[in-house]
Amino acid sequence: MFPIEEFQKLRTPFYYYDTELLRQTLQQIRLCTEPHMHVHYAVKACANPKVLAIIAQEGFGADCVSGGEIQAALNAGFPAEKIVYAGVGKSDWEIELGLEAGIFAFNVESVPELEIINQLAILKNKKARVAFRINPNVGAHTHANITTGLAENKFGIDMQDMEDIIAMATELKGVEFVGLHFHIGSQILEMDDFAALSHRINEIQDRLDAAGIPTISNINVGGGLGIDYQQPDTNPIPDFKSYFETYRKHLKLRSGQQLHFELGRAIVAQCGTLIARVLYIKSNPIKNFCIVDAGMTDLIRPALYGSYHQIENLTAVDSKDYVTYDVVGPICESSDVFIKNYGMPRSQRGDLIAFRSAGAYGEIMASGYNCRTLPQGHTTEDFQ
Ligand code: LLP
Repeated sequence: MFPIEEFQKLRTPFYYYDTELLRQTLQQIRLCTEPHMHVHYAVKACANPKVLAIIAQEGFGADCVSGGEIQAALNAGFPAEKIVYAGVGKSDWEIELGLEAGIFAFNVESVPELEIINQLAILKNKKARVAFRINPNVGAHTHANITTGLAENKFGIDMQDMEDIIAMATELKGVEFVGLHFHIGSQILEMDDFAALSHRINEIQDRLDAAGIPTISNINVGGGLGIDYQQPDTNPIPDFKSYFETYRKHLKLRSGQQLHFELGRAIVAQCGTLIARVLYIKSNPIKNFCIVDAGMTDLIRPALYGSYHQIENLTAVDSKDYVTYDVVGPICESSDVFIKNYGMPRSQRGDLIAFRSAGAYGEIMASGYNCRTLPQGHTTEDFQ
């Protein structure tokens, strides 16, 4: 499955993206969606230029959360009219970049932000398309650090202020109100959570109808579909069928309404792997440590969220001689541990180690802590 001979020639650690799996994943999304459904890839999950270029070529839009992401999306070939821009704290230069490029919509998260977008648009003689990010106060069954749709989270506009901000937008010369935006969290595997969001949106639409507000052209339900970290080989492509079916079944769209999605993890997680080498094995009376040359600077998810990534010794795959290791990195932090008490083939210096399901929030969250070099990204196509 992995081009191991090619890997041997490369400096580790690095990310490897299986572009064939990426294309199959995108194809599956296409099969499950209809023309009024628009999927914007959440660039925050992975902005590797080669990965972005493939997603853009395949006709998807982009969901950005910073000026840097807007620029990366434009450079990769995403058309501006398919770019949406969210974020609780947009700087003036970032808003100006979005205006200059002519992006599809700003997902606005507060009244003061709406006022600034309006002012900056008027200065440029432009009209900014805005969608309001509403905090739906819907919980999600996922890690507390990655739920976003509860009243206690910093994101979005409170539901009770919705009619007021819509009324305000219709008065402002520099903005055009085009939609509502929601996002309840990430790594969500319970379809009931998306059904709950759909029901909340139905209530909101009924309420806006009753207030005499004309039909809203675009509904954006955000992203959040989770992946199978436990069994990446059994489930390399997430369950898009159930995901889109849930919205089809529960969300009551009005005639002509367009439905937008912002999927990140579900598109790229399974196609990305962090490849490292074993540096040293050391043991004490209670532990065996497998020390690898990748650390929390390359893949921070285990240290930050306690998340699981399947680890494989690619050099010793066929070995039946299993040892229990703590797999750790070289960073000077006790939390620089990928996993504790993990059964793996007996490993030795130089073995190639794969951290699976690392395509989303892996390379993009890498840091230079300890003056480390950022990991490179390679794709299947680099070896052909
Ligand atoms: N839309 C908005 C407004 C978001 O905040 C996010 C993710 C997405 C879309 C994409 O969500 P996805 O489809 O990827 O679940 N670093 C964490 C995940 C943070 C997610 C932040 N927002 C992790 O490694 O699990």
